[in-house]
Amino acid sequence: MKKFLFSLAALAAAMTATFADEGMWLPSLIGSRIDDMKAKGFELTAEDIYSVNQAALKDAIVLFGRGCSGELVSAEGLLLTNHHCGYGQIQYHSSVEHDYLTNGFWAMNRSEELPNPGLTVSFLQRMEDVTARIEAGESAEAIVEEAKEGGKYAASVESLYYNNKFYLFVYQVYRDIRLVGAPPSSIGKFGGDTDNWMWPRHTGDFSVFRIYADKNNQPADYSADNVPYTPKRHFTISTKGAAEGDFTFVYGFPGTTREYVTSDFVDYTLNHSNPAKIHLRTLRLDIISAAQEADVATRIMYASKHANIANAWKKWQGESLGLARRHTVEKKLAYEARFDAWAKGTEYEGVLDKLHAKYAELLPYAITRDYYNEAIYAIELVGFAGRPKRLTEANYKDYSPAIDKKIAVEMLREFGENVKAEFIPEWYSAKLAECGSVEAFVEWLFANSRLASKDAFMSALAGGYDFSTDPAVEMRAAFDKVARESVGANYTALNSDITALYNIYMRGQMAFEPERAFYPDANLTLRVAYGSVAGYEAADGIYHKPYTTLDGIIEKDNPEIYDYDIPQSLRDIYASKDYGRWGVELNGHYTIPVAFLAKNHTTGGNSGSPILNGRGELLGINFDRTWLSTMSDLDYDPDICRNISVDIRYVLFVIDKIGGAGYLIDEMTLN
Ligand code: ARG
Ligand code: GLU
Repeated sequence: MKKFLFSLAALAAAMTATFADEGMWLPSLIGSRIDDMKAKGFELTAEDIYSVNQAALKDAIVLFGRGCSGELVSAEGLLLTNHHCGYGQIQYHSSVEHDYLTNGFWAMNRSEELPNPGLTVSFLQRMEDVTARIEAGESAEAIVEEAKEGGKYAASVESLYYNNKFYLFVYQVYRDIRLVGAPPSSIGKFGGDTDNWMWPRHTGDFSVFRIYADKNNQPADYSADNVPYTPKRHFTISTKGAAEGDFTFVYGFPGTTREYVTSDFVDYTLNHSNPAKIHLRTLRLDIISAAQEADVATRIMYASKHANIANAWKKWQGESLGLARRHTVEKKLAYEARFDAWAKGTEYEGVLDKLHAKYAELLPYAITRDYYNEAIYAIELVGFAGRPKRLTEANYKDYSPAIDKKIAVEMLREFGENVKAEFIPEWYSAKLAECGSVEAFVEWLFANSRLASKDAFMSALAGGYDFSTDPAVEMRAAFDKVARESVGANYTALNSDITALYNIYMRGQMAFEPERAFYPDANLTLRVAYGSVAGYEAADGIYHKPYTTLDGIIEKDNPEIYDYDIPQSLRDIYASKDYGRWGVELNGHYTIPVAFLAKNHTTGGNSGSPILNGRGELLGINFDRTWLSTMSDLDYDPDICRNISVDIRYVLFVIDKIGGAGYLIDEMTLN
C-alpha cells in the first residue's frame, strides 16, 4: 500500500477555501462549507443536510434507477424526478392504444399506479471515510461485505482524489416503484432535442412515482400487498419561488467530472474522442430520424433510443465549443509549466512528464475503444448477440431490423476506415473478403442470424437452436476478443498506470495551490452544490434572464412542429388565464413560472435532483445545463455555467390543471 502523504490538515484546507460557485461537496463534510453557504443565504445547519443521528434532508433524496436523482414529496412515498428519467418506464407502459408518452398518464387512485420491473431507488444510509482501514490493509470487498449486514443494505467503497481517499457508501434499495403520473411529452419533453441543453427553456421535465414497501416499511419485491413507503423525511415545497440573486442548492447524485486531469486528456476529448463520437452518432441519428418521420409506430418505438443518442451527441458538441472557447488545453499547459517549475526538487518532479508519456501510449487504444463502443456496440444486433441466453420476446418490442441494418452498414464502414488493421478481428476481415462489401456482409449477417428479428428469434428458441453457432454470436465473440485482449488489456494497464500517476499529481496540485478549493470529482455519490439564481451573458450584448414563463411556451407553440405542439388544454388555460392558485406576476406579466437558471455546479446524474432554497424547501427539479456550460465536467466557468430546473409551481400547475390529479397535491406539504 502506498503512503498517504495527504494529511487531514491538507484536506480540511482544501474543503474550506472559497472558489466562486464551483464544486460538488460531500454531504458528510459540508460543515467546512457552511460558513460560505450561510454568508450566501443558507439558513440551516450542516446536521440538517446530513446526519447519522437524526432524519436529515439526505433522507428525502434517492438515486433513481442507475443514473438519475429523485426526491420525496409526501409522507406516503410520493417521489418526483424528471420526465426524461422516467422515460423508459413511461414508454414501457405505452402502446399505440395507450400512448402515455403522447397523452400523459395519471393514476386516479393507488390501484391505478403501475409497477416497473427492475426499477429501484436507493437511499444513502451513511457514508464513512475508510481511508485508514484500507491503508491498514483491509480489503474494500471485506468492508463492503460487513456494511451489507447480510444483505440488508447495498454498499460500495469509492475512491476520491485518485485513491488518495476512500469512502464507504451504504444504501437501502427499494424495488417496488410505481408510476403515478407523467405529463404528455408535449409538456414533459417540450422543445425535444431542439431545445435540449438550451436556454431559454420551457420543458415541464417531471414525472411522479411512488415507493412501495412491505408492512414493516422495508424493501420488498413487487406485491399487491405492499403499502406506500413512509420516508424518514420529505421536502416541504415552496410556492414562493426565488428571485435573481437568491441562494439555492442542489442535492443529488452527479455522475462524472474530471476537473484535475492534464492537458492530454482535454486534448484527447477535444481533438480525438468528441469529433469521432459526434460523427458516428450523427450517422445513426440521421437513419433513425428518417425512419421515425416515415412511420408513427417507429416514432414511438425509437423515441427513447433517439433521445438517448441525441443527448450525449449534443452535449459533446457544446463541450467541444466550450473547451475551445476557454482554451482549456492551453490553460492547462500553462498551469503544468508553472507546476513543473514549482515541483523541481520535490517528490512531484517529473510526474507530469510521465503522465504525458503514458497518455501518448494510451491514445491509439483509447480512440479504438471509442470506435468499438460507438460503432460496433451501437449495432443493436451485436448487443443481442452478447446475451442470447437472456433474450426474451420483450427485447424485440422496440426493435426494427431494417433500421439496425442501415446502422450496421454505416458503423462497420466507419470502423473499417478508421481503426488500425491490428484491431480489426480476423473473423470479420475474412467474412468481409468473402462477401465482397460491407453491404453484402450486413445482408448475409441479417439473413442468417436467428437474432436479427423477433420471428427468427422466437422460432429458433422454440426449435431448441444452439445460439453459440449463430453468425451474430460468432461476430460478437470475434469483436469482443479483440476489444478485450488487444485493446482493452493495454488500455486498462495504461490507465491504471495513469491513475497511479494522478494519485501523485493530485497531491501535488493540492500542495502547489494550498488556497484552492479541491472538491472531489463527481462519481455518482451524493453531493451538495450551491449557488444563486442567476442569468448570464449569452453573447456580447445579450443577457439571458433566469426565468421563463408560460407566455414563452405560447410563443413557441406550433402545431406544425412536433417538438413545439402543446396540448389544446394548455392553450385553453392560457387563453382564459385560468391559472388558479399557481399564477404569479413575473417578467412583467401575470403568468406561470416554468423554468429557471442558477449557478449550481451539476452534471449528468443530477437530473431529477431537488433544487432547494436557503430553508431547504423545494423550488424545483434540476434537469439540464445550458449548452455553454457543458464543458464544466472538465473546466467550470462561474460566469457562464448554469443549471436548469423546472419550477415546482409549473409542476404543480400541470398536475392540477392538465393532469386533473390535484388529489396528489393534497398529499404534499406546501409553504
Ligand atoms: N440534457 C438533459 C440530460 O442530460 C436532458 C436529456 C433528455 N432530453 C432529451 N431531449 N434528450 O439528461
Ligand atoms: N440531463 C442531465 C441528467 O440526466 C443533467 C444535465 C447535466 O448534464 O447537467 O442528469
